[in-house]
Amino acid sequence: MKAAIDFGEMDAILTKYGHKANNIIPILQDTQAKYRYLPREAFSYLSERLGISTARIYSVATFYENFSLEPKGKYVIKICDGTACHVRKSIPILERLRKELALSESKVTTDDLLFTVETVSCLGACGLAPVLTVNDKVYPAMTPDKASELLAKLKEAN
Ligand code: FES
Repeated sequence: MKAAIDFGEMDAILTKYGHKANNIIPILQDTQAKYRYLPREAFSYLSERLGISTARIYSVATFYENFSLEPKGKYVIKICDGTACHVRKSIPILERLRKELALSESKVTTDDLLFTVETVSCLGACGLAPVLTVNDKVYPAMTPDKASELLAKLKEAN
């Protein structure tokens, strides 16, 4: 499940941020936007180019929750399990998606790298609960059946 790293792309990101080590956070953000996660090979490349240790880059990457060191699917589905969504039954939606995609709490990404299913704690759209997002697009008032339909549509598009 390893993505091939295009070091030309990495160089473009480094150029954008002036090859400055103190821009490590936006550099990692752009790297993640490109690959949908932070590939380990990128760490050593950035370390060499920026003159900072891989340990330091790793500590930045693990400090911020938004960075992922694991490959993510083309569609990242986030099911809100904040209070408002939880009381309006977000868990059955989560369970339905996990069942249909053969995922679990410990296996969050499908082997074909099409889907990642995660939970989040309040997407800030409580009035629309229960809510899920697919790559940051918000889907309000979800139900397990609506989630299945959405999944079918996404699969069809591929
Ligand atoms: S609790 Fe789900 S959007 Fe706030």
